[in-house]
Amino acid sequence: MTENNTHFYTKFHPSNYNVYLDINRATKTISGQTTITGEALTTEISIHQKALKVTSVQSQNTDVPFTTDDAAEAINITLPSTGETTLTIDYTAPLTDAMMGIYPSYYEVNGEKKQIIGTQFETTFARQAFPCVDEPEAKATFDLALKFDEHEGETVLANMPEKKVEDGVHYFDTTVKMSTYLVAFAFGELQGKQTTTKSGVQVGVFGTKAHKANELDFALDIAKRSIEFYEDFYQTPYPLPHSWQLALPDFSAGAMENWGLVTYREAYLLLDPDNTALDMKQLVATVISHELAHQWFGDLVTMKWWDDLWLNESFANMMEYVAIDALEPDWHIWEMFQTSDVPAALQRDATDGVQSVHVSVEDPAEIDALFDSAIVYAKGARMLVMVRSLIGDDALRKGLKAYFAAHRYGNATGADLWAALGEASNLDVGAIMNSWLEQPGYPVVDAKVVDGQLTLSQHQFFVGDGVDQDRKWQIPLNGNYAATPQIMKDARVVLGDYADLRQQAGEPFRLNVGNESHFIVNYDDTLRADLLTTSADLDAISQLQLLQDLRLLADGRQVSYADLVPLLKDFAESPATVVNAALYRIAGTLTQFVTPESTEEAQLRKLYDQLSAKQVARLGWTPRAGESNDDQLTRPYVLSAALYAKNPAAIEAAHQLFTDNQADLGALPADIRAMVLANEVKHYGSTELFEALLNAYRQTPDASFKSAIRAALTSTPDAALIKRVIEAFEDADTIKPQDLRGWYRGVLANPKGEQAAWDWLRDDWSWLEATVGGDMEFSTYITVTAGIFHTAERLAEFKAFFEPKINTPGLTREITMDIKVIGSRVDLVEAEQAAVNQAIAAELN
Ligand code: BES
Ligand code: ZN
Repeated sequence: MTENNTHFYTKFHPSNYNVYLDINRATKTISGQTTITGEALTTEISIHQKALKVTSVQSQNTDVPFTTDDAAEAINITLPSTGETTLTIDYTAPLTDAMMGIYPSYYEVNGEKKQIIGTQFETTFARQAFPCVDEPEAKATFDLALKFDEHEGETVLANMPEKKVEDGVHYFDTTVKMSTYLVAFAFGELQGKQTTTKSGVQVGVFGTKAHKANELDFALDIAKRSIEFYEDFYQTPYPLPHSWQLALPDFSAGAMENWGLVTYREAYLLLDPDNTALDMKQLVATVISHELAHQWFGDLVTMKWWDDLWLNESFANMMEYVAIDALEPDWHIWEMFQTSDVPAALQRDATDGVQSVHVSVEDPAEIDALFDSAIVYAKGARMLVMVRSLIGDDALRKGLKAYFAAHRYGNATGADLWAALGEASNLDVGAIMNSWLEQPGYPVVDAKVVDGQLTLSQHQFFVGDGVDQDRKWQIPLNGNYAATPQIMKDARVVLGDYADLRQQAGEPFRLNVGNESHFIVNYDDTLRADLLTTSADLDAISQLQLLQDLRLLADGRQVSYADLVPLLKDFAESPATVVNAALYRIAGTLTQFVTPESTEEAQLRKLYDQLSAKQVARLGWTPRAGESNDDQLTRPYVLSAALYAKNPAAIEAAHQLFTDNQADLGALPADIRAMVLANEVKHYGSTELFEALLNAYRQTPDASFKSAIRAALTSTPDAALIKRVIEAFEDADTIKPQDLRGWYRGVLANPKGEQAAWDWLRDDWSWLEATVGGDMEFSTYITVTAGIFHTAERLAEFKAFFEPKINTPGLTREITMDIKVIGSRVDLVEAEQAAVNQAIAAELN
């Protein structure tokens, strides 16, 4: 547990804040007065501030001496005495565009520029809006009063309902006891829709008037039903009168769980109900259910300190699936977990130097740098999925109910949660979990027949060089043979005579059935051959798991990629999305082994053609009314394979679809829109088409359509147009900084654009740093680059550029890991290229 005398909370316990803010958009200034009631434990106290110009501090209406310390983000105050006091602080502050604190979001309606003011306070940005003890443990109630250069037709939203407007000041009801990072408000010309849950909670969805009204409907339905679900699942009522969901045009994260006023990127809240792909709807639904899971887990009960931020996020990341699985059982939403979170965690966590889920952190400025989403969200959620599957839903719910009852309006640590779940399940949950939380990495379990005995052993799995530190995990094995222990704690375990076990079981040996534990399995030749003979009978998740584990083992050089190539056809006719996802991920990896425009590339294209042909014929280009979810979700995989293959019929079909819909490209079916547009740009491109699409990008409010256009434009083979795209990178009226990374990645992944994108990143690094440098996204520009590079030349350039930056706060780990990531890929390609290309040639018929 973190007890630290640098925490301001140790010196002052706030109980109530009266926050008065006067915001002037025209002059971009904020002036404020905050009155804090609380208990001083010493006479020398500190209150957080960042970029505030403090003009006076009074205690009980009398001026008291104070100094501001910008490095410590503090106002240091000397009080006449300890005990209950009321501090009044007057200040001014700038309104900046950095998407932190109080900030404007920019958008256009019918060519007219407008803005909405909103807030983002997590992790430590409340202190930019008003002086406060900006630590999660310092819970207090808040009375917010807002004044601004208001005009007719504006809506004001906050955590609590508005209680009155007096002399142009909006006053809101007192909040419940809560942490500063969850305070939020927003105002501007908003549209909204509302409904009420069964229990009487007002639910609303809000966005700018640039959107069509029906874009709010999907979110409203999911939000309402999510709250109803959680009230039941947690057996704890939603404690506020309302739950507003607000889409902000400029947003740094994906979404933010402010209590009662959740904020979102527009792409993660609003959608065209009549033309949005199913996977996008599923994503939006899980984002909403994620943030609403936090209304209890995070908001009602909050981590004591930032080192337990993983607890908030891992938990919400699991619950988003639990909730949506209950609300939309036909979606089989856990499949999305298997195709997105699981591979992200397994990939990232295999590089030596990765962080553990739980990391001690003192300086909150470091927390953003430590925030590795593949670990904190994906791996962390997988840990909790492991717990859930060990203890079951009944114990989970019972434990959670007790946890909320014990800590509501207060704080807790990971240990408190394990204690509650342990009590409810009679299992030592903490002991099992600590091996996963405190250690980086994960094990590969070698399953072997040794002298006739079926033997398991565990050791850490690495992609690239790794130093084996003899780590052990407590692994829930979930084997299909009764002789398999529930938990493997030791380095090695012998299950018994293999021939007997095989005979008794009547089926091949398998571990991690359901793929819910965070490890991979390396079966020896005997066991793998046995498993592969029956692979067609396995359920889809097991097939995905087989392919996924093999791909990782190939990345880790424990099996060869050439051996994977002949397996692909066995799975290519699967109707299951998850199988196609795993299959085409391997196929995608093969592109690294071929040089653009080479014979080998032509052969790989042919392999793609053969893999996809039957499914393309079966599914066709246009969604059919009433088709299965799997068919809808599989279509894009096989069509994009056919297009990569340069299949003439596919190119022509996509072109035809483009031609037929030229008058209204937004009306192209959303599932295939990106492919149709990219096909057109690649094969029938022109400057006019390019400019028309870029213009459509600027104008459409539909995030799905925007991302399809982005995918199309970044795939142009035309050098002049690539230059044009890169020029738009720094034009915020065209590409918002929040969306830039997707554009950068798109151009970089385009073999004709790679050089230009990489040159841009290096040349304009300081611009990028100034624009998104304070942001958690910043380091992901490096991650994305490392995800694509696979040649020795690029590795050398990458090192030359990033090694000198290795001491930049927040970038050290990323740069170190990414050099490893590219290095291991370069080695892999060099070692296996010839064999892989031979294997591809041998597959063609
Ligand atoms: N609380 C987070 C956002 C956050 C985390 C802001 C850390 C600042 C620091 C929020 O609940 C969240 O997890 N957002 C995700 C989207 C989510 C649905 C996975 C995000 O922003 O990526
Ligand atoms: Zn979250």
